[in-house]
This record gives sequence, structure tokens and C-alpha cells, in this order.
Amino acid sequence: MEKRSMWNSRLTFILAAVGSAVGLGNAWRFPGLAAKHGGGTFLLVYLLAMLVMGIPLLMMEVSIARKLRRGAAESLRGINKKFEPIGWAATSNAFVIVCYYSVVFAWVILMFINSWQFGSMTGDSEKASSLFFDLTQTTGAIEGTSIPGMVMVCLLVAWGLIFYCIRNGASSVGKVVKFTVFMPVLLLIIMAVKGITMDGAMAGIAQFFIPEMNALGDPGLWVDAIGQVFYSLSIMMAIMFAYGSYLDDTSNVAADCMIIAFSDMAISVLSGIVMFSTMGGTGMLDSITDSGIATAFIVYPQAIVNLTSIGWVNAIFGAVFYLMLITLAIDSAFSIVEGVSASISDKFHIKPRTVTLAVCAIAGLISMVFVTQAGLAWLDIVDSWTNQINLIVIGILECIAIGWCFSLRKVHREINRNSKKFNMPFWWFATSVKVVSPLLLIGLFVWNMITLFVVNGGNYGGYPLWAQIVAGWVVSLFVFISGFIIKLVIRHKKKSGYIEDEIVWED
Ligand code: PHE
Repeated sequence: MEKRSMWNSRLTFILAAVGSAVGLGNAWRFPGLAAKHGGGTFLLVYLLAMLVMGIPLLMMEVSIARKLRRGAAESLRGINKKFEPIGWAATSNAFVIVCYYSVVFAWVILMFINSWQFGSMTGDSEKASSLFFDLTQTTGAIEGTSIPGMVMVCLLVAWGLIFYCIRNGASSVGKVVKFTVFMPVLLLIIMAVKGITMDGAMAGIAQFFIPEMNALGDPGLWVDAIGQVFYSLSIMMAIMFAYGSYLDDTSNVAADCMIIAFSDMAISVLSGIVMFSTMGGTGMLDSITDSGIATAFIVYPQAIVNLTSIGWVNAIFGAVFYLMLITLAIDSAFSIVEGVSASISDKFHIKPRTVTLAVCAIAGLISMVFVTQAGLAWLDIVDSWTNQINLIVIGILECIAIGWCFSLRKVHREINRNSKKFNMPFWWFATSVKVVSPLLLIGLFVWNMITLFVVNGGNYGGYPLWAQIVAGWVVSLFVFISGFIIKLVIRHKKKSGYIEDEIVWED
């Protein structure tokens, strides 16, 4: 077998993991959720959810993969042969996610290229908000099959960039993350300075930070905070297994994971400051929503054309905003592909580069569905199922597998193997993985099911039922049986001489 590619420094690993965690979710979902749930109150609950669930689970994935040196599927098989399908569920769910995440990435590129158009829209909010619809020709419903040429070009560029960044695994990722992690932070700081210096910005900032304590009793707040922590840290997506497997034995998982989680949170807060001050400054505080796509492509453009009375200045800020989103999204996008290809190449002993190319090609083809005129609607459905159902069920299964059917002491020893000042306390880790996280996730799952079936009568977003079955339920089914399909393939391959690796956890 080829030598596993490895991170060339501690910093590269931290940056790559931060790059994966920090994505579009920080820029548009986090501020929107904070707006919805009483500002500072949301921040508080988010921090709590990060401590009791996010951080322990992140440490768990990274340390297991470092120990076993395998991607998600084989790492879970190393824990117990029966758990391999959980790893494949995470892998195939990640595959589905990248099929549409790449399209959102392509849209961001499209808006960046077209941001000059904001120059002639000064003060015209209506025109600004329709730019996205004009460019993508999306109908917002399951209608329309044509693909606008320009969008197709952006999709190709998106996939080209993704492949370019991960063509050599950890070594090429290591090179690009130095740029793709610091650049968005720099751009966010520029935008924060512009935002804070506008009249009315303080009203926005106040809304973001000052807690409204009576919001604490709303279960919706807790559900959203837990969901956001889960989504934002890129756990249960096969990514942190892949990234952990490129670590060498001297790495300090406990400390590094703390740094990763808090950097992720800090960048969410920074994006919140940008969003709230800009919206306050342009008199649009009431327009902040928790729907990511709407914020980035419909609401924010309106703010852009009202930033100043000089067209080209606004256009430049528009370009800065979308460039920020490009650099934010790209390292999340390629991390998902990396997670998927690590699982596959470890299992089938195929060169990582070949697998990466194949994954990009196949996912690239599928992603074309989401750039058609009906694409936004398909994306909405798939996004809802992959995140509200699949991801959470995978989380529950992983917690049960590792918390209840394996030795938490062993995992904990791995986490603290090289720790210096900060040691992850065992009680914290064990209570989280064994009890708190699975319970929170089960609660989240039940809540989502009640919302889907009781509140909405089994109908998500008013799309036709057949579309929800195809893009929702069938996809979920595929995700959860993928491991068993792979088992059959392996059984077949064994007949022609394939030998499965023996993966053992040696103490
Ligand atoms: N954590 C990313 C974000 O906050 C989301 C993400 C990363 C989604 C990787 C998929 C894969 O935007």
C-alpha cells in the first residue's frame, strides 16, 4: 500500500480542520439563528452546546482516526466490524452533501463575477434582490430543466478548484488552507470595520449581543443551537476521521480540538458582527432571516446597494463579500470530498488521487441537477433530509457504538496522549459521548420528526410528494444501506483475491 499522506505541521492540521468547520454556515446561518433567538441568548446556548456535545465528539473522531490511521468507514470497522456501515452512512451522506454544497459554492462564484452589476443599482433594493434569480433563472419550484450557460461554467470552475486543492491529499490541502482560512477572516474584518462605522450599526450590534433571557424557555432555541454546533464542526461527515488519520502520533488532540472549536465559534461571532452592523447601518435589521440562501443571495445584495451612494464603492463591497464567501466555502467543500475519498481509498486500496478524481467527476455530474431551474427546490429538499435526518441519526449511532459498545477509556487515553497544559477530563468526555450527546441528538431527531409529520403533515416546504420521496426518503435509504451494499461488493471481490485489512486497536 502507498504511504499515507500526512500533515506537514501541527498548524496545517488545525488550519485544515478550521477551514472545514468554518463555512457558509458561520457566515449566514449563525447570524440568522442568533437574530431569531434573542441574540446573546443564542450565543450562550450555542457555547453550552459546543462544550457538552461538539468538543467531545470532535475529539472522539479525530483521536480514533489518528490511532487507527483510517478514514471513517475503516476506522469504525477497527472499533468493531459491525460498525462499519455507520462509517459508510457518514461517507455517503457526505457525498450527497457535496453534490449540492458545490452548487452553492458555484452560485457564490457566479455572484462574485457579477458583482460589478451592483454599481448601477444604487438604492434600488428590488433590482439587487432579483439579481440572483435573473442569473440562475431558478423557479424555486420543481419546474424547469434548462441550465443557464454561465451557471454551468461556474459549476465547472467550482469542481476544478475543489479537485485542484485536494489532488495530493494532505500535502496539497496543507498548502491552500494557509490562504483559504486567513483570507476570509481578513475580508470579514474589512467588512466589520465598514459595518461598525455606519450610523445605526450599534442598534444591530446590540441586538446581536444583548441576551433576551425570556427566549431561554423556547425549545426551538435549544434545537437550533444544538443543530448548528453539530453542522458547524463538520463532525459525523467522515471529514474529521480523514483529517485525524493524517496526524502523527505526537499530535495533541485535546488542545488542537479546543483551538478548532473556538476558532470556529470566533469566526461565527465575527460574521454576526458584520451581518448585524451592516443590516443596522442600512436600516434592514428586520430582514435578517435564518435561511442561509436567502440571506446571502437576496437580503445581503439589498444591503450592498444601500451601503453608500457611490455605485462603484458598493460594487467593490459586493465583490469583497462574495470573495469572502468563496474562500469560506472552498475549504469546507473540498474537506467533504476528502472525507469521502479517504473512506473509499482505504477500503478498496485504490490510489487516493484516482478516487478523488472519480468522486469529483461523479458528484460533479449529479450536482448538475441543482443548477437547473428547479435546482434550488431540489437543493432545499436534499439539504433538509441530509441535515435534519441523516446527520442526526448517524450521530446517534456513532455515540452508541463508541460510547456503549467500546471502551471510552481507550479513546480518552488517545485524546490526552500528548496533552500538556490542557487535559480533557474523563468525566466530561464520557458523560458527553455516553449520555448527553445521544440524548440531545435523539431529542433533536424527535423534534424534527414532529415538525415534519405533525406540524407540517408530512409535507416539507410544499413541494410535490414524489419529489420529497425521491430527493428525501430515497436518498436517506441509500445513505443507510450503503454500508451493506459495500459489504456485498467486498464479498464478491474477495472471490477474486482481495484481502481486507486487519485493523486492530493496539494498546
Ligand atoms: N461546517 C460547514 C459550515 O459551517 C459546513 C460543512 C462543512 C458542510 C463541510 C459540509 C461539509 O458551513
